[in-house]
Amino acid sequence: MEQEPMRTRTWQTDATHPDVAVLAEAAEVLRQGGIVAFPTETVYGLGADGTSEKAVARVFSAKGRPADNPVILHVGRRAWVDHLVREVPTAAEALMERFWPGPLTLVMERGQRVPDIVTAGLPGVAIRMPAHPVALALIRLVERPLAAPSANRSGRPSPTRAAHVARDLAGHIDGILDGGPCQVGLESTVLDVRRDPPVILRHGAVTREMLLEHLPAVGEHVGGGAPPESPGLKYRHYAPDVPLEIVGGPPAERHRALKEARRRLSAEGKRVAFLVTEEAQMMGPDVYLLGTDRDPATIAASLYGHLRTADDSGYDRILVEGVEESGLGRAVMDRLRRAAEAPPGRD
Ligand code: TXA
Ligand code: MG
Repeated sequence: MEQEPMRTRTWQTDATHPDVAVLAEAAEVLRQGGIVAFPTETVYGLGADGTSEKAVARVFSAKGRPADNPVILHVGRRAWVDHLVREVPTAAEALMERFWPGPLTLVMERGQRVPDIVTAGLPGVAIRMPAHPVALALIRLVERPLAAPSANRSGRPSPTRAAHVARDLAGHIDGILDGGPCQVGLESTVLDVRRDPPVILRHGAVTREMLLEHLPAVGEHVGGGAPPESPGLKYRHYAPDVPLEIVGGPPAERHRALKEARRRLSAEGKRVAFLVTEEAQMMGPDVYLLGTDRDPATIAASLYGHLRTADDSGYDRILVEGVEESGLGRAVMDRLRRAAEAPPGRD
């Protein structure tokens, strides 16, 4: 059910030295059951008191999120995890030590105190400790785990700036903490540590290669469809209204294919957005620079912002240059493939 439009406050804060008075106000709103968007190192999250069924329900309703898609609990300290899970697997201990705070979400056996709505009734609970100084300080001030999905309207790209959050959710949430752009730009890696070896449910900023430095083996969900342990994956995280196509292949080949497509489509009178790397050497008002092939982190950081712009600018089609699928490139391609698929649903 649509809520009446409400006033959404915006607080500005420095990203590295958060303004404590500002965070205290936002924390109070959260303690009272409000919903507030805040920056993390990956994307903006829409936070609610993770111990309150009612507060978390407001998050689902503001986003238009399907009720069978569980949300991540964001903790302020490692010790909080013990209250949220039945047991901490040995593998998880080393991973938390190495990667927290940071963009790694661990799925463990859920403890009794976790509200049903958080896990969508599943036996596992997903937990991470974000590395962003604003997020971490906020969670510690609330003194409760924050349930927080990405702060976009379902079916839109995750927000990497406060303006993206406002575009999707102003009038539907209590506040937005604006801490500037997110560094990583893609969502966290989701790893199921109940399994041995642990299984990657969603690729993200902590890459498979990085995990393998701390684990003897890492599993991956293979085959079509969503694994039953992560129903959220059956929803497209981003479902553009206009067709999105990936132009792949080795660099020289895809650069040629992009230019060829540009000639052909413009002759047909089509308005096409090109999201390409510097190496493609394309220029013009329809070209959005994704960063450089030499560093997939630059591509990850700019991707969602460009997708939003392209989506909002009335193009007939979006063409995106593919990237090499190693390291962070794997997470980038994963998101792009989902966006390019026929719509099975929305997230
Ligand atoms: O980087 C991130 O992870 C961001 C920031 C805000 O922390 N959050 C985020 O949340 O991307 P969301 O809700 O957009 O994506 C969470 C993913 C979904 O694919 C969901 O299905 C999965 O994690 N997930 C959450 N709880 C789970 C659980 N109990 N078992 C399995 N998968 C779970
Ligand atoms: Mg999301």
